[in-house]
Amino acid sequence: VKSRVYNFSAGPAALPLPVLETIQSELLDWKGVGVSMLELNHRSDHFAEVMEKSERDLRELMGISDDYRVLFLAGGARVQFSLIPMNILGQKNTADYVDTGFWSQVAWKEAEHYCTVNVVASGATDEYRSIPSRSTWRLNSEAAYLHYTANETIGGVEFHSIPEGIEVPLCVDMTSNILAYPVDVSRFGILYAGIAGLTIVIVRKDLLEKATLTTPMAFNYTLQDKHKSILITAPTFAWYVAGLVFDWVKQQGGLSAMALINERKAALIYSVIDRYPDFYRNVIHTSCRSRMNIPFTLPDKILEEKFLKAAEAENFYYLKGHAVSGGIRVTLYNAISEKITMLLAAFMEDFAERFGKISK
Ligand SMILES: Cc1ncc(COP(=O)(O)O)c(C=O)c1O
Repeated sequence: VKSRVYNFSAGPAALPLPVLETIQSELLDWKGVGVSMLELNHRSDHFAEVMEKSERDLRELMGISDDYRVLFLAGGARVQFSLIPMNILGQKNTADYVDTGFWSQVAWKEAEHYCTVNVVASGATDEYRSIPSRSTWRLNSEAAYLHYTANETIGGVEFHSIPEGIEVPLCVDMTSNILAYPVDVSRFGILYAGIAGLTIVIVRKDLLEKATLTTPMAFNYTLQDKHKSILITAPTFAWYVAGLVFDWVKQQGGLSAMALINERKAALIYSVIDRYPDFYRNVIHTSCRSRMNIPFTLPDKILEEKFLKAAEAENFYYLKGHAVSGGIRVTLYNAISEKITMLLAAFMEDFAERFGKISK
């Protein structure tokens, strides 16, 4: 579609064009039933089809075993920041959190309303340029769980492997890197990811039945599991779109195929940044650079404005960094193709050639 721009937004973010086209073609009449997905009752047999296929596809893509329940809950990932302690603490009153930047902080500060939070390690000592080495973590064996943020969407640090040697259930926020690479779900107690208006919560069965009586019923994992996530009127459209995305990822060859593409895309953008270190500045340690969100700054604000303007002239949109960090952020989720990434890399290279020398 000619009028569409290259959308580098970190969220809500670009969707694959075939997914948008399917939504468009099905919008007025979903699969010949004479009703739009926007109008279909969440308890109808037709929506049950969407529910079953989406869960089946997600289980297949991520290799989720029968030991886990998959919930599709209303609200975004921030809702889970409260729901995890409400649902999982049980008799315990303390939880471990790793502080790697903005999102992990929001998570542990929210958890403090429900329990004593033990921050096992904080990237603050390094201005959040790296993830604190696992050997420095001060774990609490009494913790109900350990929570970490797999990818800091704003700061641009990402865990490149699952932390080892954690005895308590591991709880991971994969909001900005779910389905980007294969992940061993069996290592987790809870794996969750928020998309606009919907959160996917993959929870190990033995962690159910621990919710406090004051947990809102709409957000009680056990109750929602018993009701197949439709105890309340579910966010049906977001769920349907998520299902279309799962299907698209399968058609791309699944998570191993996505991982190879994602590695190449990130390597390309970092290679331009590293070629012009005085111009494009990404301060994150190489070992924990995010492959999904790449933040960087230019020598001054005027050049950053110029960069964003020039980018838009070439159809590259939403590259402005998050308000709390400023600068530029390149987001490379699955729907950003290798070809688009190459175009952006070429633009960045050209911009650095044109303005890099002048700024020195
Ligand atoms: C890693 C991470 N966790 C949590 C959130 C919060 O998600 P929501 O706005 O859906 O509550 C975000 C939002 O961007 C995020 O990037």
